[in-house]
Amino acid sequence: MRTLLTIASLGLLGMTSSTFALDEAAAESLARKSGCFKCHAIDKKKDGPPYKEIAGKWKGKGDAEQKLTTHVTTSPKVKIDGKEEDHEQLKSKDPGDVKNVVQWILSR
Ligand code: HEC
Repeated sequence: MRTLLTIASLGLLGMTSSTFALDEAAAESLARKSGCFKCHAIDKKKDGPPYKEIAGKWKGKGDAEQKLTTHVTTSPKVKIDGKEEDHEQLKSKDPGDVKNVVQWILSR
């Protein structure tokens, strides 16, 4: 029990030491609620690219967070089976919620 508690508190310390603490459960839940998983999976191609591939594509690019934030909040046109469609937006306008999902995608 003592060992378990120690591991748990180390985990918490690890989280608070970074400036932004990713809330994976909240990110997944908002993505689910927003219908994102209809077209995206973590590592499988559906109508949209897998989040792992998106993370890879943007890795190390300074404007990744800004670009993806725009992508998931402004409904840009995307091509699905050759047809142009408006991309889905997140069902929350809270900047913290949006950042959380964007960071979650970028850390896949
Ligand atoms: C109807 C299908 C569909 C839904 C629903 C959808 N997406 Fe997408 N998404 C796409 C497609 C297709 C692309 C690829 C666009 C491209 O590369 O031109 C894409 C691309 C992306 C990208 C990468 C953008 C880039 O510039 O690299 C992100 C991030 C993303 N989607 C997040 C989301 C989130 C978050 C949601 C939920 C709010 C969502 N998507 C819902 C189809 C969808």
